[in-house]
Amino acid sequence: MKDKTITRKISQGVYVLTTLGGGCVVDAVSQISAGDNPLICVAVMKKNNTNELMHNNNKFAISVLGKNVDPKIIETYGMKSMKDYDKFSNSKTTIIDDLNIIDDSLGYMICEKVDTIENDTHTLFIGRLIEADKYSDDEVMTYAYYQEHKDELIKVTTEKGKTAWICTICNYVVYEDELPENFTCPQCGVPKSLFKKGN
Ligand SMILES: Cc1cc2nc3c(=O)[nH]c(=O)nc-3n(C[C@H](O)[C@H](O)[C@H](O)COP(=O)(O)O)c2cc1C
Repeated sequence: MKDKTITRKISQGVYVLTTLGGGCVVDAVSQISAGDNPLICVAVMKKNNTNELMHNNNKFAISVLGKNVDPKIIETYGMKSMKDYDKFSNSKTTIIDDLNIIDDSLGYMICEKVDTIENDTHTLFIGRLIEADKYSDDEVMTYAYYQEHKDELIKVTTEKGKTAWICTICNYVVYEDELPENFTCPQCGVPKSLFKKGN
């Protein structure tokens, strides 16, 4: 491939997907039909805890993040797993229709799950929009903006005496002095060579 960064020119935003019991940051969101209750599709990695939760629930919410969102929201929902970190008690959310909506967002969409499509790495969850609200017309955070500015936005705090190793593919953070030779990302599976030292 000559330059895969052209895929960043596909307009994508940065969102927090939530369902009962958890959620994560996603950029792979598309509106795939029109009308009063359009279909919305979100792709969730099979390795994410959120994937299992999405299979077990029939509703999900998408909170839309703005350009000025507190980067802690992205760190909390996009770089940690609900398997070992309670994202909901470590961020401000409001429960609407039983789902956690991010307070620091531009608004939200709530969907009723109507279909799932499996591929090798991701599940596509398709939902019909049943509720939505807009809190603000501030500029959205695009995925391209996030990619260009992630080093300034995300300052990973090193745990005392340890080095933060960040996966350059999915941003998973591991705190270790050194990563073992055969180490692979617990979240997206890429090898140690694709981890960089955090600041
Ligand atoms: C900017 C950004 C975009 C992301 N986009 C997606 C995505 O579209 N789909 C996905 O499954 N994970 C995506 N992730 C990764 C998940 O948010 C991340 O793996 C999260 O820690 C999973 O948490 P969980 O194990 O609690 O589900 C993204 C992360 C970031 C920071």
